[in-house]
Amino acid sequence: MKIIEAIDEMQQLALSARRTGTTIALVPTMGYLHEGHVSLMKEGLKRGGLVVVSIFVNPTQFGAGDDFATYPRDLEGDVKIALAAGVDLIFAPSAAAMYPQGYQTYTEVERLTLPLCGANRPGHFRGVTTVVGKLFNIVQPHAALFGRKDYQQLAVIRRMVIDLNIPVEIIGMPIVREPDGLAMSSRNAYLSPTERVAALCLFRSLIAARALYQGGEKDPFILRERVMAVIGAEPAAAVEYVELRDGDTLEEIRKADGRTLLALAVRIGKTRLIDNCILGEDK
Ligand code: PAJ
Repeated sequence: MKIIEAIDEMQQLALSARRTGTTIALVPTMGYLHEGHVSLMKEGLKRGGLVVVSIFVNPTQFGAGDDFATYPRDLEGDVKIALAAGVDLIFAPSAAAMYPQGYQTYTEVERLTLPLCGANRPGHFRGVTTVVGKLFNIVQPHAALFGRKDYQQLAVIRRMVIDLNIPVEIIGMPIVREPDGLAMSSRNAYLSPTERVAALCLFRSLIAARALYQGGEKDPFILRERVMAVIGAEPAAAVEYVELRDGDTLEEIRKADGRTLLALAVRIGKTRLIDNCILGEDK
């Protein structure tokens, strides 16, 4: 496996791979890799060709009060995980190379970034779309893989690719969970043992609301109340948002259906966790 830090080298390698007819799949990550990331790598590998995992803790998607400085980093451990998964290449640029002095260009998706995480993390998606656009230009992928764990991020990137005519196929992948249901996340590393137990309320609340929906309840207000009750019973948890929205447009809904997205962001102590489900789906 190769590790490339230089942007030029990565771009040249990608362009010459393309010239020889090699397809390229990109898995963009911020590192501290776990099974959720590995599921994206494995899907990329299944498609054949060159699989590139980018590892870059992107400063522009973190706000002033966010955890950029403390975000977990472990390049050595990441290399081992990517190697074991069978990945060909890691692209790990520096922040100074990605955003050199004088940098002033940003990509912004409008309506889709207003609710949910966008409302609570101003500028976050502008940083995400900017860096993902840059990664697409550098790595030149035919396909790029993203997790539905970050449901809104996936929707925003799909929109950007359509709107800017970027010739890349976006592949969305299911949420990978711990055996007890907690969605895998690099930020789970922040949780103390007692917080780790408290964090289960996110998944429990999704299961409760989905069961209520599948039992016939279609009123988004009542479904939301069920989620709030489950999370409210956990003293260590503070809700940032709990929302039911259209799974495609992310617009508000009057009546839940099988395509309704139930998305939440909850703080467990100082750690902000997100999770979601589609009401009509079983996973
Ligand atoms: P990061 O949080 O490292 O996630 C990288 C990719 O892994 C994202 O597509 C995310 O949705 C996916 N992922 C994370 N946890 C997952 C899980 N439990 N199951 C399935 N997929 C999971 O998301 C980012 O980085 C950044 O915003 C990035 C897109 C790299 C831009 O900087």
